[in-house]
Amino acid sequence: MARFDHIVFVCTKERDRDDSKGSCHHRGAPELLDRMKELTQKHKLKGRVRVTASGCLDYCAKGCTVAVFSAGKPAPETWYTHLSPNDAERLFETHVLEGKRLDAHVERSGDDRSLGERNG
Ligand code: FES
Repeated sequence: MARFDHIVFVCTKERDRDDSKGSCHHRGAPELLDRMKELTQKHKLKGRVRVTASGCLDYCAKGCTVAVFSAGKPAPETWYTHLSPNDAERLFETHVLEGKRLDAHVERSGDDRSLGERNG
């Protein structure tokens, strides 16, 4: 049996503002992370859902980036891009509470590409 129902990795990587790669930090990732943690507490899911910061998940140009690994629904692994802090509630409710993917933000381009080719 899995330890958690969902493990949510929120990229909070910070680069200089003039770095052409960009970074999730400057697109609101710390606030997105905080809101996701607050929602976990609000719904009393602390022992079943783990929300944690991560380093770069290699979709920098499409951040904020979130990777969710789930024991059950909706899928073992889902990658989300183009998220903002305002998406936190919808992401949490759809993925964690309803067990569905938030289709508008699912990243599909990297499935058949190597990690080093994902940026851009
Ligand atoms: S900085 Fe967030 S995916 Fe690279």
